[in-house]
Amino acid sequence: MQWENLYYALTQFIHNFGAVAIVAGAFAALKLPAESLEIKHKLAWLVLIAWCAQAGSGLIFGGISLYFYGETPDLHATALVALIIKMICAASSIILSLLYVLKASSWTARGRHKVWHSLAGFGGIALTAAAFLRWFS
Ligand code: HEM
Repeated sequence: MQWENLYYALTQFIHNFGAVAIVAGAFAALKLPAESLEIKHKLAWLVLIAWCAQAGSGLIFGGISLYFYGETPDLHATALVALIIKMICAASSIILSLLYVLKASSWTARGRHKVWHSLAGFGGIALTAAAFLRWFS
Protein backbone atom coordinates (compact mmCIF):
# COMPACT_ATOMS: atom_id res chain seq x y z
CA MET A 1 0.00 0.00 0.00
CA GLN A 2 2.82 2.42 0.90
CA TRP A 3 4.58 1.90 -2.44
CA GLU A 4 1.36 2.36 -4.34
CA ASN A 5 0.67 5.63 -2.51
CA LEU A 6 4.23 6.82 -3.13
CA TYR A 7 3.94 6.11 -6.88
CA TYR A 8 0.57 7.89 -7.03
CA ALA A 9 1.93 10.87 -5.08
CA LEU A 10 5.02 11.24 -7.30
CA THR A 11 2.91 10.97 -10.44
CA GLN A 12 0.44 13.50 -9.04
CA PHE A 13 3.36 15.82 -8.26
CA ILE A 14 4.38 15.83 -11.94
CA HIS A 15 0.74 16.11 -13.03
CA ASN A 16 0.06 19.10 -10.75
CA PHE A 17 3.14 21.05 -11.82
CA GLY A 18 2.38 20.17 -15.45
CA ALA A 19 -1.09 21.70 -15.04
CA VAL A 20 0.41 24.89 -13.57
CA ALA A 21 2.96 25.20 -16.41
CA ILE A 22 0.30 24.65 -19.10
CA VAL A 23 -2.06 27.30 -17.83
CA ALA A 24 0.49 29.82 -16.54
CA GLY A 25 2.68 29.48 -19.67
CA ALA A 26 -0.18 30.19 -22.05
CA PHE A 27 -1.55 33.11 -20.02
CA ALA A 28 1.93 34.63 -19.63
CA ALA A 29 2.42 34.46 -23.42
CA LEU A 30 -0.94 36.17 -23.98
CA LYS A 31 0.08 39.04 -21.67
CA LEU A 32 3.47 39.61 -23.31
CA PRO A 33 3.80 42.19 -26.10
CA ALA A 34 3.65 40.82 -29.68
CA GLU A 35 7.36 41.55 -30.29
CA SER A 36 8.57 39.33 -27.39
CA LEU A 37 9.24 36.48 -29.82
CA GLU A 38 12.16 34.88 -28.03
CA ILE A 39 10.51 34.52 -24.64
CA LYS A 40 7.31 33.26 -26.28
CA HIS A 41 9.37 30.64 -28.11
CA LYS A 42 10.73 29.51 -24.73
CA LEU A 43 7.23 29.49 -23.27
CA ALA A 44 6.06 27.36 -26.20
CA TRP A 45 8.77 24.80 -25.33
CA LEU A 46 7.68 24.87 -21.68
CA VAL A 47 4.03 24.38 -22.63
CA LEU A 48 4.90 21.59 -25.09
CA ILE A 49 6.96 19.73 -22.47
CA ALA A 50 4.24 20.27 -19.85
CA TRP A 51 1.49 18.86 -22.12
CA CYS A 52 3.67 15.81 -22.86
CA ALA A 53 4.28 15.41 -19.11
CA GLN A 54 0.51 15.57 -18.50
CA ALA A 55 -0.23 12.91 -21.08
CA GLY A 56 2.63 10.74 -19.79
CA SER A 57 1.79 11.09 -16.10
CA GLY A 58 -1.92 10.63 -16.87
CA LEU A 59 -1.13 7.30 -18.51
CA ILE A 60 1.14 6.36 -15.58
CA PHE A 61 -1.89 6.80 -13.24
CA GLY A 62 -3.60 4.05 -15.24
CA GLY A 63 -0.37 2.00 -15.29
CA ILE A 64 -0.09 2.09 -11.48
CA SER A 65 -3.65 0.73 -11.13
CA LEU A 66 -2.87 -1.94 -13.68
CA TYR A 67 0.30 -2.93 -11.82
CA PHE A 68 -1.26 -3.08 -8.33
CA TYR A 69 -4.78 -4.30 -9.16
CA GLY A 70 -4.41 -5.94 -12.58
CA GLU A 71 -6.93 -3.51 -14.11
CA THR A 72 -7.42 0.20 -14.83
CA PRO A 73 -10.03 2.06 -12.68
CA ASP A 74 -13.66 1.33 -13.55
CA LEU A 75 -14.76 4.80 -14.68
CA HIS A 76 -18.31 6.18 -14.51
CA ALA A 77 -19.53 7.44 -17.91
CA THR A 78 -19.05 11.09 -16.84
CA ALA A 79 -15.47 10.40 -15.74
CA LEU A 80 -14.80 8.59 -19.01
CA VAL A 81 -16.06 11.58 -21.03
CA ALA A 82 -13.88 13.88 -18.89
CA LEU A 83 -10.86 11.67 -19.54
CA ILE A 84 -11.52 11.62 -23.29
CA ILE A 85 -11.87 15.43 -23.27
CA LYS A 86 -8.49 15.70 -21.51
CA MET A 87 -6.89 13.40 -24.05
CA ILE A 88 -8.31 15.41 -26.97
CA CYS A 89 -7.04 18.64 -25.35
CA ALA A 90 -3.61 17.05 -24.83
CA ALA A 91 -3.32 15.73 -28.41
CA SER A 92 -4.46 19.06 -29.91
CA SER A 93 -2.18 21.12 -27.68
CA ILE A 94 0.87 18.94 -28.29
CA ILE A 95 0.38 19.41 -32.05
CA LEU A 96 -0.27 23.17 -31.69
CA SER A 97 2.68 23.86 -29.40
CA LEU A 98 4.98 21.72 -31.56
CA LEU A 99 3.91 23.67 -34.64
CA TYR A 100 4.51 26.89 -32.72
CA VAL A 101 8.04 25.84 -31.73
CA LEU A 102 8.84 24.83 -35.31
CA LYS A 103 7.07 27.42 -37.42
CA ALA A 104 5.82 30.43 -35.43
CA SER A 105 8.62 32.70 -36.68
CA SER A 106 6.99 32.65 -40.14
CA TRP A 107 3.45 33.33 -38.80
CA THR A 108 1.73 36.70 -38.39
CA ALA A 109 1.45 38.20 -34.88
CA ARG A 110 -2.32 37.59 -35.09
CA GLY A 111 -1.76 33.92 -35.96
CA ARG A 112 0.63 33.46 -33.02
CA HIS A 113 -1.83 35.16 -30.67
CA LYS A 114 -4.66 32.86 -31.83
CA VAL A 115 -2.55 29.79 -31.08
CA TRP A 116 -1.82 31.04 -27.55
CA HIS A 117 -5.54 31.64 -27.06
CA SER A 118 -6.26 28.07 -28.15
CA LEU A 119 -3.54 26.69 -25.85
CA ALA A 120 -4.94 28.66 -22.89
CA GLY A 121 -8.45 27.45 -23.77
CA PHE A 122 -7.39 23.79 -23.98
CA GLY A 123 -5.64 24.19 -20.61
CA GLY A 124 -8.79 25.62 -19.03
CA ILE A 125 -10.99 22.87 -20.51
CA ALA A 126 -8.57 20.15 -19.32
CA LEU A 127 -8.54 21.63 -15.78
CA THR A 128 -12.34 21.65 -15.75
CA ALA A 129 -12.44 18.07 -17.02
CA ALA A 130 -9.98 17.11 -14.23
CA ALA A 131 -12.55 18.11 -11.60
CA PHE A 132 -15.19 15.83 -13.19
CA LEU A 133 -12.70 13.00 -13.63
CA ARG A 134 -11.76 13.27 -9.96
CA TRP A 135 -15.25 13.23 -8.50
CA PHE A 136 -17.02 10.88 -10.92
CA SER A 137 -14.42 8.11 -10.74
C1 HEM B 1 -3.82 12.85 -21.73
C2 HEM B 1 -3.92 13.73 -20.76
C3 HEM B 1 -4.34 13.43 -19.35
C4 HEM B 1 -4.65 12.24 -18.73
C5 HEM B 1 -4.65 10.84 -19.33
C6 HEM B 1 -4.96 12.55 -17.34
C7 HEM B 1 -5.32 11.63 -16.38
C8 HEM B 1 -5.56 11.92 -15.07
C9 HEM B 1 -5.89 10.95 -14.04
C10 HEM B 1 -6.05 9.45 -14.30
C11 HEM B 1 -6.03 11.61 -12.88
C12 HEM B 1 -6.39 11.02 -11.50
C13 HEM B 1 -7.91 11.13 -11.32
C14 HEM B 1 -8.34 10.73 -9.93
O1 HEM B 1 -7.84 11.28 -8.95
O2 HEM B 1 -9.21 9.87 -9.83
C15 HEM B 1 -5.78 13.01 -13.13
C16 HEM B 1 -5.85 14.00 -12.17
C17 HEM B 1 -5.69 15.34 -12.43
N1 HEM B 1 -5.44 15.91 -13.67
FE1 HEM B 1 -5.11 14.89 -15.41
N2 HEM B 1 -4.84 13.90 -17.16
C18 HEM B 1 -4.46 14.46 -18.36
C19 HEM B 1 -4.26 15.78 -18.61
C20 HEM B 1 -4.43 16.80 -17.69
C21 HEM B 1 -4.28 18.19 -17.97
C22 HEM B 1 -3.89 18.76 -19.33
C23 HEM B 1 -4.53 18.88 -16.82
C24 HEM B 1 -4.52 20.37 -16.53
C25 HEM B 1 -4.23 21.31 -17.35
C26 HEM B 1 -4.83 17.91 -15.80
C27 HEM B 1 -5.12 18.20 -14.49
C28 HEM B 1 -5.35 17.28 -13.50
C29 HEM B 1 -5.57 17.61 -12.10
C30 HEM B 1 -5.55 19.03 -11.51
C31 HEM B 1 -5.78 16.40 -11.44
C32 HEM B 1 -6.04 16.21 -9.94
C33 HEM B 1 -7.53 16.22 -9.69
C34 HEM B 1 -7.81 16.04 -8.22
O3 HEM B 1 -7.35 15.06 -7.63
O4 HEM B 1 -8.49 16.89 -7.65
N3 HEM B 1 -4.75 16.65 -16.37
N4 HEM B 1 -5.51 13.17 -14.47
